[in-house]
Amino acid sequence: MHNSKFFCNFAAETMKIGVFDSGYGGLTILDKIYQRLPEYDYLYLGDNARTPYGTRSFEVIYEYTLQAVRFLQQQGCRLIVLACNTASAKALRTIQQHDIDPSQIRVLGVIRPTVEYVAQRADATATPHIGILATPGTVSSQSYVLELNKITDSPVHRFTGSPFIISQQSCPMWVPLIESGEYREDGANYFVDKYIRAILDKDPLIDTLVLGCTHYPLLADKIHAVLRNMGREDIHLVAQGAIVAQSLEDYLHRHSEIERQLSRGASVRYLTTESPDKFNQSASIFLSSPVAAEHIEL
Ligand code: DGL
Repeated sequence: MHNSKFFCNFAAETMKIGVFDSGYGGLTILDKIYQRLPEYDYLYLGDNARTPYGTRSFEVIYEYTLQAVRFLQQQGCRLIVLACNTASAKALRTIQQHDIDPSQIRVLGVIRPTVEYVAQRADATATPHIGILATPGTVSSQSYVLELNKITDSPVHRFTGSPFIISQQSCPMWVPLIESGEYREDGANYFVDKYIRAILDKDPLIDTLVLGCTHYPLLADKIHAVLRNMGREDIHLVAQGAIVAQSLEDYLHRHSEIERQLSRGASVRYLTTESPDKFNQSASIFLSSPVAAEHIEL
C-alpha cells in the first residue's frame, strides 16, 4: 500500500493526467506529451524499485500495473497513460475490461497509437517489412503482431489485403543498461549491435524498426550508428513519444466530456518507488529540466 503520509493533501481538487512506467522510460513519452499539451496537470509515476517489468511474468506485470493505476486514481488522475509497452501489452486490456469504471477513469496504452502510425506511413505500393524491438514480455505477448494484423482490416489502413511482414526481437539487456546509466558507455555497444543484427538477420528487408519500449529512444544514437555501419541508414526508426502525444491530443478532442474535467495548472509532479535523489539524477538525462521527485510505496 502506498505511504499515505505523503499524500494527505495531494489528491483530488485537480483532475490530472497520470503517466506510468516501470521506470524512466515513460519520461520519453511524458516529455513529448507535455511539449504538445502543456496546459494540463500531470502526475508521473515510475516504479523504479521494481523495474524492469519486461522479464517478469504476466501475473506480476498485471498486479504491479494495477497497483499503479489504483494509486494514480486515488491521487486524482482522470486519465492514465500506460507509457510502457510491457504494461500496455500485458495488463491494459484486463484492466480496461475488469478493473476500472470507465465513467470514473480511462486508461490508455502506447501500442495501438504506434501501430496506427506504422500502418499509416507504410508504403502502400510495397509489402511493409516491420521490425519490432521490445522487451521479452512485449514480444511474448504478440501484441504488436496481433494489433498490426488487426489494423489491416480497419479504415486507417490503406492496403488492400497486403499483410505486414513482421519480425520481433526481444532486447532484455537494454532496459537494465538504461536504468543503470550504463547505456552511454562503449560497453553497451555490444548489446545494441547484437539485437540489431539479430532482427535484420531474421528479415534483411526490414524498412521500419519500431522502438517498442519507451526506454529505447535513449539508445537511438547507438542504434543509428549500428545501422550506418551496416549500410542500412534507409531504415526508419520509430520512437513513440510524439506519436503518443498526438494520439492523446486526438483522444481529448474526441472525448470532450473527459477533457472538460481536466484541470489546467500546467504542472508536472514526479513520483518514484525508488529513492528520489536517484530518480532526480537519472531523470535529468531524459528531460531537459531538473525534477524534484517524491517517494511513494505501492
Ligand atoms: N518502458 C517499458 C516498456 O515500454 C519498460 C520495460 C521494462 O520495465 O522492462 O516496455
